[in-house]
Amino acid sequence: MCGIVGYIGEEEATPVLVNALKKLEYRGYDSAGIAILGPGNEAGAGHSLVVRKAKGALKNLEQRIATEIIRGTSGIGHTRWATHGEPSDVNSHPHTNVSGKIAVVHNGIIENHAKLKEMLRESGVTFKSQTDTEVVAHLVDYFYKGDLFEAVRATLDRIEGAYALAFVCENEPERIIAVRKDAPLVIGAGKGENLIASDVTPLLEYTRDVYYLNDGEIAVLYRDRVEFFDREARPIEKKTSRVEWDVSAAEKGGYEHFMLKEIHEQPKALADTLRARIKTYATKTINLEEIGFDASWAQASRVVISACGTAWHAGVVGKYALERFARIPVDVDVASEFRYRDPIYDPKDIFIIISQSGETADTLAAMRMAKKSGARIIAITNVVGSTLAREADLVMYTWAGPEIAVASTKAFTTQLMCVYLIALKFGHLRKVIDDAELAKNIEALEGLPALAERLLAQKEDIQRFAARQFHKTKAFFMGRLFDYAVSLESALKLKEIAYTHSEAFAAGELKHGPIALVDESTLVVAICTQTALFDKMDSNIKEVKARGATVLVITWEDEKYFDSAADEVFRIPRTLDPLSPMLSVIPSQLYAYYCSVMRGNDPDKPRNLAKSVTVE
Ligand code: F6R
Repeated sequence: MCGIVGYIGEEEATPVLVNALKKLEYRGYDSAGIAILGPGNEAGAGHSLVVRKAKGALKNLEQRIATEIIRGTSGIGHTRWATHGEPSDVNSHPHTNVSGKIAVVHNGIIENHAKLKEMLRESGVTFKSQTDTEVVAHLVDYFYKGDLFEAVRATLDRIEGAYALAFVCENEPERIIAVRKDAPLVIGAGKGENLIASDVTPLLEYTRDVYYLNDGEIAVLYRDRVEFFDREARPIEKKTSRVEWDVSAAEKGGYEHFMLKEIHEQPKALADTLRARIKTYATKTINLEEIGFDASWAQASRVVISACGTAWHAGVVGKYALERFARIPVDVDVASEFRYRDPIYDPKDIFIIISQSGETADTLAAMRMAKKSGARIIAITNVVGSTLAREADLVMYTWAGPEIAVASTKAFTTQLMCVYLIALKFGHLRKVIDDAELAKNIEALEGLPALAERLLAQKEDIQRFAARQFHKTKAFFMGRLFDYAVSLESALKLKEIAYTHSEAFAAGELKHGPIALVDESTLVVAICTQTALFDKMDSNIKEVKARGATVLVITWEDEKYFDSAADEVFRIPRTLDPLSPMLSVIPSQLYAYYCSVMRGNDPDKPRNLAKSVTVE
């Protein structure tokens, strides 16, 4: 998804902006550009605005800048993920008005751009690009009467959609203006310099003090201060928040890719996410004060979970866990369906909204709809200060640390940890599980980080298997109950980064259609951790074997049940059957990673994908 950066200070802005854009590469992009305000750039005397942009990787932009040097101590930059118009130099941001004196970068979509374009064309504007964003530059120009702030305000009254926008103007070199609505934007408060970015990662090198901008707020950045206003131009007081992340946590730390690093961080991430919530009084118990867990939860008659992609898969596991441990009905739905299907609400519902980034457009829309129903909204998110975290009633953070690779790994397992904690606590309150059962499960959860560590130590077995299978163009993942939920996530990982056609099936569904696709070219990964259903899985494995498939079974380390049926068995350390997803997904993450690398792909930045999907 597009990334925005901006800088105003005493340093040369170009290297700062390029460096910041590099930190946003993980969001996915297909072109990049910067606009710099500096004395004497090209035009000679006075301040002038210079734009450089290039299709493709950031290094293309860097090459251009190396030969066409621009100087200046303020500017804005952008990585573009094409939505309107193909990836090209001309469609890249920043976009400028006709005279080239005003530049804008944008993350989001201007929904009424066609109407505005028509209006601007009639007023004599010739458009250079196919983007929705260019209308914003011309609109600001249209309203500009010597005050950029007022022109931006007038523009905001006309545009509809989602946006984080940053503006610079040649006539007002002393300031950058930034606004947001339904798209992320953070402001870094430095010493003698201020910055903006789509998330905190690029800011950390410069400052740890950040301002989070709310929807509809306008920030005006000067070298020595930042002023905030509402849409009516009334000043707003804002306090900085301190970011506690370590910069090194957002770097690769010796691993070839962020994804491999993040897979290996899972033991720590699981431990961090759990530790904060286990309290010892007379016995160990789960403390969920942060989400207002108390006896009033007993009034709830249903839990509704909504999310997208991997986070939705965490929700599917959540459904099985809540039904198993708390015996409460659970609806789980992808947010893009939920928001449009006219769902039925009950103010007694508990909504759980899951999102790593806390900025996913569909997920935020689902959360806002649910909020109107008067139900209790619990957000599970990884990003402190994200829109979801700020707008939900209550937040449970996954303490996974920054997740940079586009394919989610440690965010998923920590989301699972959160939903299990809720399910167990809820089950105890509803007297479905007694003290002993709760204690047994807490102990098992506490054991998981060490087991994940042990599992990761066998990663070469998966690497060897991938070396034999990575060329396969068809892979099916199958399982039952919790293993089905993990199959969904496993198939998604392989699609995303290895570009292998992979599907997930509830194993019992195979014979209702999909088995017609199974032949000698098919890899079937059977996830088998639900002991009560081993016989059923065994039959399914035999069915696909009989049609020529190669079968990898993922099962418990001390389990011999599938040794003769499978072509290969990958063994995971034993935990309680219902808690298996936090371990059983790891082999699939590794398999997808190795296949991706062996196919020559970049697992951290898969084609066509963005880390944070802030548009519909
Ligand atoms: C898959 C993946 C995506 C995200 C989805 C939701 O590896 O990363 O499917 O899970 O876009 O993102 P968040 O969790 O940020 O709302």
